[in-house]
Amino acid sequence: MITSLNDKITLNNGVKMPGFGLGVYKVEDGDTAVHAVRTAIDVGYRSIDTASFYDNERSVGLAVRESGVPREELFITSKVWNDQQGYESTLKAFDESLEKLGTAYLDLYLIHWPVTGKYKETYRALETLYQEGRVRAIGVSNFHVHHLENLLADCKVKPAVNQVEYHPHLSQVELKAFCEKENIQLEAWSPLKRGRLLDEPTLVEIGNKYGKSAAQVILRWDIQHHVITIPKSITAERIQENANIFDFTLTQQEMNQIDNLNKNERAGSNPDDF
Ligand SMILES: NC(=O)c1ccc[n+]([C@@H]2O[C@H](COP(=O)([O-])OP(=O)(O)OC[C@H]3O[C@@H](n4cnc5c(N)ncnc54)[C@H](OP(=O)(O)O)[C@@H]3O)[C@@H](O)[C@H]2O)c1
Repeated sequence: MITSLNDKITLNNGVKMPGFGLGVYKVEDGDTAVHAVRTAIDVGYRSIDTASFYDNERSVGLAVRESGVPREELFITSKVWNDQQGYESTLKAFDESLEKLGTAYLDLYLIHWPVTGKYKETYRALETLYQEGRVRAIGVSNFHVHHLENLLADCKVKPAVNQVEYHPHLSQVELKAFCEKENIQLEAWSPLKRGRLLDEPTLVEIGNKYGKSAAQVILRWDIQHHVITIPKSITAERIQENANIFDFTLTQQEMNQIDNLNKNERAGSNPDDF
């Protein structure tokens, strides 16, 4: 389990990835995105999760350069969008992401969603990029067990990460067990269910015991479950608050109480219908 904001989890290829980071979905390109990423890096975040679809890679790149933190101390993830999938088009999409980010390499490149009939070809392009040393780790996002089984049947490089919707209302019990068995690191998107879990009485009550917010309780629950978490915020106080989760420990009983909130309820799309 990670014990600080900078602590890293070793992926299945030996690359070390911060267990905590900033997500930037729906963060407007320009000053807002630059400010959010700069604030996070100043607070001590070292991992940023973007995607070509988010249309803010230029601002993320600018903030990274302005931060003064050496590139190799940061961990940058991007993703290939659905209409960019296919072998050649993915290679092209990767080049475009690098150009926008203004970086020579990515730390992690993911297939954003499993586009039926396309994602294996797309993954072959990720393997090429990995073998060429242009990305340190490759993986997937929004893959169910059946997508992973299909991919694992003939991939050359095992995906290092599967980034999926994961929060106390969707704790992905079967998928998590499968990923643990296969040594694929689970990463939580919408860990706060986009803000819709923050009045949940169980979380508020547990938080009161430690002087923590419901958001902090959820993020701590992620960490104690060995799930990488990337909460999004553009608000400086919240960016700071979300990272302030390394000075308390949920008891096993509290972990179970939060596990029991699961309703298999999504805030986003089901990958099978998207
Ligand atoms: N792979 C995928 O398909 C996929 C899909 C969705 C998301 N993601 C990734 O996961 C990241 C996180 O998910 P998300 O952005 O959907 O949602 P989220 O992190 O669950 O929630 C973000 C929302 O919660 C608010 N918030 C953040 N911290 C808070 C706090 N301490 N107290 C109260 N409100 C707080 C934010 O508001 P403010 O910003 O206004 O402060 C924002 O409205 C994304 O940014 C993206 O990087 C990936």
